[in-house]
Amino acid sequence: MGAGSSVVLDAAALHPSLSDPALTSMTLLNDICGRYPGAVSFAAGRPTEEPLRSDSLHRHLDLFIGHLTNERDLPEPAVISTLYQYGRTKGVITDLVARHLAADEGIAVDEDAVMITTGCQEAMVLVLRALRRDERDVVLAARPTYVGFTGAARITETAVWPVREGEAGLDPADLVRQVRAARAAGLRPRACYVVPDFANPSGAVIPTDARRELLAVAEQEDLLLLEDNPYSMFGPVADRPPTLKSLDRRAQVVYLGSFAKTVYPGARVAYVVADQPMAGGGRFVDELAKLKSMLTLNTSTVAQAVVGGLLLEHGCSVARASSAIATVHRRNRRLVLDGLAARLGDVPGVSWNAPAGGMFVVLTVPFVVDDAALEDSARRYGVLWTPMTHFYTGAGGHHQLRLSFGGQRPAEMGRGLDRLAAFVTARAHRPVPAPRAVAESAISLGGGGR
Ligand SMILES: Cc1ncc(COP(=O)(O)O)c(C=O)c1O
Repeated sequence: MGAGSSVVLDAAALHPSLSDPALTSMTLLNDICGRYPGAVSFAAGRPTEEPLRSDSLHRHLDLFIGHLTNERDLPEPAVISTLYQYGRTKGVITDLVARHLAADEGIAVDEDAVMITTGCQEAMVLVLRALRRDERDVVLAARPTYVGFTGAARITETAVWPVREGEAGLDPADLVRQVRAARAAGLRPRACYVVPDFANPSGAVIPTDARRELLAVAEQEDLLLLEDNPYSMFGPVADRPPTLKSLDRRAQVVYLGSFAKTVYPGARVAYVVADQPMAGGGRFVDELAKLKSMLTLNTSTVAQAVVGGLLLEHGCSVARASSAIATVHRRNRRLVLDGLAARLGDVPGVSWNAPAGGMFVVLTVPFVVDDAALEDSARRYGVLWTPMTHFYTGAGGHHQLRLSFGGQRPAEMGRGLDRLAAFVTARAHRPVPAPRAVAESAISLGGGGR
């Protein structure tokens, strides 16, 4: 290297995940979305901002400070330390999260089984890091699956073994088959990642019977279930199916919760419940805390305080705290389903699913949906969405796109659907090219939010 020239690094000399399509397609899609700021976006998995107010932050912070002083009985110096100092690794609102789980989800855990994380993303990395002892350890997951999980698996070098997903979500019978196939291949299936309520991207909900079956399979096959539940508040108010964790009698479920969609994503506050006893004493959550102490030390105490204040304001019920956001999401679900029916109902080969809640609808079309189609949709029609191929490892989803319907206001929704319909109709009437193999990939969407 000559004087004045820069160091040049070779990607081949860096961690293989950095060259993996799972991580590079995130940049690619962000890039496409970023180049069309005027487009209506159904791409990013962002919740609505409609009910949010900037002054709520101050109110929630004040409520939490009041809680520290009055309920926890802390003198001012201890209040200062709690908010300003490096904090307890497991977090400062674990008691409030335990109260939320009891109030909303029928999950009875003591606060010591809870650890607050910097987004669910961190929780997934920690759990996978802990479970992967060597290259024989694999986790199972529905196909298609949430890109954040695929990414966490890549950076922890954990292989993901796919399981069939039908209209009723992850299929317990196929889980048995796949666990056995993985074992026959000399691997150690450690856990199955599952989003029982309004999965991302499919929107599927696992019925209660199948939830019980999953727990039975987990027991029989000696498997943990990693239950990820960011969306359950966004369905019909009555008759929410029980969480796997609330049915769990054997500490078989590691539960991942996030306030990203119900409160706001920018707080980056989520949590893991890991009450599995360790053979030598302690619990799995304590092992995860060791990892966290070397990764992020603790989740921002200020962010925890704001989320804590919001929980306190609503008696620790996220159902109550998020009801305005959930109402907008329910409205948007209706708008998107009615809007698709009005605009695309009679276009041959075009169909979509009708999830009962969540934030995503999957549209099936008679043409190939890839990144080039997205680029064309953005440039010529001014509308963004996500090619479903990004949620598959290997080939899959070539004729599908995901619409995220959390973030639009009604007028914008109408405009976006008009543009989408123009794009889809134009393509649907062209000859259908043969599907081509799509490289293994995963994703993110404009301006963050997956
Ligand atoms: C299935 C799933 N889990 C979790 C999350 C939330 O992750 P985080 O808390 O890191 O924002 C998302 C967000 O898109 C998601 O779709």
